[in-house]
Amino acid sequence: MGLYSFVGPIIHMMDAETAHGLAIKAFKCGLIPKAKPFHDPILSSNLWGLNFSNPVGLAAGFDKNGEVPDAMLSQGFGFTEIGSVTPQPQAGNPKPRLFRLRDDKAVINRMGFNNDGLDVVAQRLSARNRNGIVGANLGKNKTQEDATADYVAGTKALAGLSDYLVVNVSSPNTPGLRALQNKDQLAELLRAVLSARNETVEKGKAPLLLKVAPDLSDEDKTDIVAVAIETGIDGMIVSNTTIERPESLRSAHKGEGGGLSGQPLFQASSKVLKEIAKEVDGRFPLIGVGGISNADQAYEKIKNGASLVQLYSALVYGGFELVREINEGLAGRLKRDGFKNISEAIGVNL
Ligand SMILES: Cc1cc2nc3c(=O)[nH]c(=O)nc-3n(C[C@H](O)[C@H](O)[C@H](O)COP(=O)(O)O)c2cc1C
Repeated sequence: MGLYSFVGPIIHMMDAETAHGLAIKAFKCGLIPKAKPFHDPILSSNLWGLNFSNPVGLAAGFDKNGEVPDAMLSQGFGFTEIGSVTPQPQAGNPKPRLFRLRDDKAVINRMGFNNDGLDVVAQRLSARNRNGIVGANLGKNKTQEDATADYVAGTKALAGLSDYLVVNVSSPNTPGLRALQNKDQLAELLRAVLSARNETVEKGKAPLLLKVAPDLSDEDKTDIVAVAIETGIDGMIVSNTTIERPESLRSAHKGEGGGLSGQPLFQASSKVLKEIAKEVDGRFPLIGVGGISNADQAYEKIKNGASLVQLYSALVYGGFELVREINEGLAGRLKRDGFKNISEAIGVNL
């Protein structure tokens, strides 16, 4: 029986944001034991010159302030992503802003990029030994009108301190943010960020990824992939939370505003991933995220074109023990299906 079986029920008696704050504190103080390591070479891959020991990563939003990246890696993740970080610290939206939808194994959040800002986060990252892969997810301040300036500032501050960068233009909780996915604005933004990256770190360092929403029209998807290819970014993360509310939702909080994640996002985000993967056609790697809570779902994302996967919401219901379970399950499924390495399974559904 794992730790979560004991502490899970207690955590679930608290409101969701209090529980999250407590978990961060417990990790910071070293109160949570490391996971029993699980290594299988079938899960390892090299992308962007980085060696991933397994494909399961922690999605952005859990460790927004880069307080516990190493503790996350010691829970068995192959990589972790901090952020979203904005240039200036900001408080985010009024509370309550984080809701568990227990009956739906889902979460709704409208946090609004609450974070400590670039200076503090950069300091924390500088103090690390840099063992293990840590990405930095960049956002913009709510009141900043020049979005490009914020992403450029984030790039300059964190490119030298992280293993990859993410331009997040897909959170639903910052007014106007998702409009940056629009073709012309996106091209201008990505060009500016790429040139800031190239000025900050030597070529080949800090690959630049774009994180997109699941709520995109066919035209949006085609345009975004065209811009991604044309500007020469290094990859995409598909997807962020959705503003859709499926009919199937049963929980009391289903009417709350914000982004929905977890189980009800799995189908929609996997479909967008597959469509984007078809258009990308192997030109750069994709990270699949949205509703993953078990090995079958992680495997499906990989077969739909993801080289790596990430999760967050499932941890709320299953705890960090899930990371090992998913990795073990994935290794078993790859062997059962005759693959010698995970890289052979990427995109086989396409
Ligand atoms: C509470 C919460 C906060 C989040 N904050 C961010 C964020 O700051 N930046 C970001 O790119 N994604 C953020 N996300 C989205 C996740 O990274 C992920 O894309 C989404 O939740 C879908 O994955 P999941 O179903 O496994 O949770 C957040 C998600 C949650 C639940």
